[in-house]
Amino acid sequence: MSGGALQTDFMTLTRFVLEEQRRFPSATGELTQLLNALLTAIKAVSSAVRKAGIAKLYGIAGSTNTTGDEQKKLDVLANDLFINSLRSSFTTCALISEENETLIEVEVEQRGKYVVAFDPLDGSSNIDCLVSIGSIFGIWKMETNAAPTDKDVLQSGRKMIAAGYALYGSACMVVLSAGNSVNGFMLDPAIGEFILTERNIRIKPRGKIYSINEGYTELWDEEIKEYVNAKKTSTEGRAAYGSRYIGSMVADMHRTLVYGGIFLYPAHKKSPKGKLRLFYEANPMAYIVEKAGGMATTGKEAILDVQPTNIHQRVPVIMGSTEDVKDFLAVVEKHKK
Ligand code: AHG
Ligand code: MN
Ligand code: MN
Repeated sequence: MSGGALQTDFMTLTRFVLEEQRRFPSATGELTQLLNALLTAIKAVSSAVRKAGIAKLYGIAGSTNTTGDEQKKLDVLANDLFINSLRSSFTTCALISEENETLIEVEVEQRGKYVVAFDPLDGSSNIDCLVSIGSIFGIWKMETNAAPTDKDVLQSGRKMIAAGYALYGSACMVVLSAGNSVNGFMLDPAIGEFILTERNIRIKPRGKIYSINEGYTELWDEEIKEYVNAKKTSTEGRAAYGSRYIGSMVADMHRTLVYGGIFLYPAHKKSPKGKLRLFYEANPMAYIVEKAGGMATTGKEAILDVQPTNIHQRVPVIMGSTEDVKDFLAVVEKHKK
C-alpha cells in the first residue's frame, strides 16, 4: 500500500471469526452472531469508561440525571449492556454473570445454544482512579436450546469453545481464542471496528516479572512465601524479577501475555479458596493462556480441569509463562514432602 493511502481491506474481528468458522462445514454462523453481540456491549462499555457522553454519566451511582433516570454504577451499567446484548442475539440459553446471584435464563423466544459466563467489569476498584479495567467472557455450547439448569452449566473450562477479554487500557483491545490461536484486535474508534493487530499471540516460555498482591504476605502459606521470595533474590546466572501489580486481573494478565512472567492470586488464611471466580475470571484467562502456550494452575490441578460445583465458586489462580509456572509447582511439590 502506498504511504498515506487509506486502508481499504481491514481484517476485522467479525471477518476473522467468519473465516475461521468457514473451515467447519457444520458452522451455522451462530457463534459469529454471539461474538458480535459481545462486541457491541464491549464498545458501549469502552465508551462509558472513556466518559464519553460525560453529561449522562456524571454523578454516577445514586443520583439522577436530567431526564430523571437513575444513574448507574459502571459495573451495573456494563452488566446490563452484556445481558441485554446477549439476550437479544438469539444465540444464548443461559448467562452467568458476576453481578447476578442466580443463573440468568433466556426467554424461550430468544434462545440459542450457547451459555456465556462473564465478568462485565473487572477491576472495579480501579474505576475511580482511571486505571485500566476490563471485561472477561467464556463460552460453552449446549446440546439443545432447552433451558439449562445449574447442573447442566457446571462444566469444566476444558469444554469451553471460545473465551476472551476486553481491556479498557490506553487503547481498547479484545483478545480472543475460538479454539485455535489467540489473536488481539484493537478498537479503531473512528470506524467502531475491532481490527486484527496481534496475530497468533504466544507467551514467552519464561518472563522477568511476578505479579501478586504482596499486602497479603503474612496470610500466605509457606510455599507462596518461598516462591515469591525466590523471585526477589538474584541467583548465579539470573537476576531478580521485577514486580508489577495493577489489581485488575485483565490488565495484569494482558501484561503477562505480552511480556511474559507469572500472575498469582493464591488462597490465603482469610480466603482459603482464593478470591478469583472460576467461571468468569479463572477459566477464560486459563483458556487464553493455554492456547498461547502458557500454563494455568490452582497449584493442585490445571484450572481448566476443575470440575465446578457452583457457578460463583472461587479458585486459587497461578498462571503465565510455562517455565515460571513449573518453578512454582516445583516449590509446591517440595512442601508436600
Ligand atoms: P472485580 O472488579 O470483578 O470484582 O475483580 C477484582 C479482582 C481482579 O480483577 C483482581 O485481580 C483482584 O480482584 C484484586 O484483588 P486484591 O485487591 O485483593 O489484590
Ligand atoms: Mn473481576
Ligand atoms: Mn467484576
